[in-house]
Amino acid sequence: MSHDMDASRLYPTRIDIPAEVRSQIAEILNQSLASTLDLKTQVKQAHWNVKGMDFFQLHELFDEMATELEEFIDLIAERITALGGVALGTARIAAERSTLPEYPLDILDGKSHVTALAERYAPYAKLIRDAIDKTGSLGDADTADLYTEVSRAIDKRLWFLEAHLQA
Ligand SMILES: [Fe+2]
Repeated sequence: MSHDMDASRLYPTRIDIPAEVRSQIAEILNQSLASTLDLKTQVKQAHWNVKGMDFFQLHELFDEMATELEEFIDLIAERITALGGVALGTARIAAERSTLPEYPLDILDGKSHVTALAERYAPYAKLIRDAIDKTGSLGDADTADLYTEVSRAIDKRLWFLEAHLQA
């Protein structure tokens, strides 16, 4: 597909990481970008549609989580461009490349939304943790550090979500 070719295209840069390594890192980052964009829209879906007695606190919590993901989207996309790569951040590419399941559209109550989000934060946390190792192995400590920051925050959010379910 045409945008898969775009994904490996690199612009010239004076950065000291070899092009073939930057290309592999950019591909990992673009994969994460797609899943992070997808997850953010799913959290907003929950923010807008949750109902029940816990409405307000979950509505607010989900918005805080979406804002946090928006910051990670920007960090990931701008790391790609810093490496000379092309950030692939449209909704259509995100939908095509995300590894997360689609969000259920027929749920209403808080517990169902918290469960649905936990079921997506968990595989997303694994994706990000795997990326720490992959980019670390490629010798890019900066990208591995970016992923470590994201990973710590996502683990914390998974804890927040699961704390609602474990009472
Ligand atoms: Fe809102």
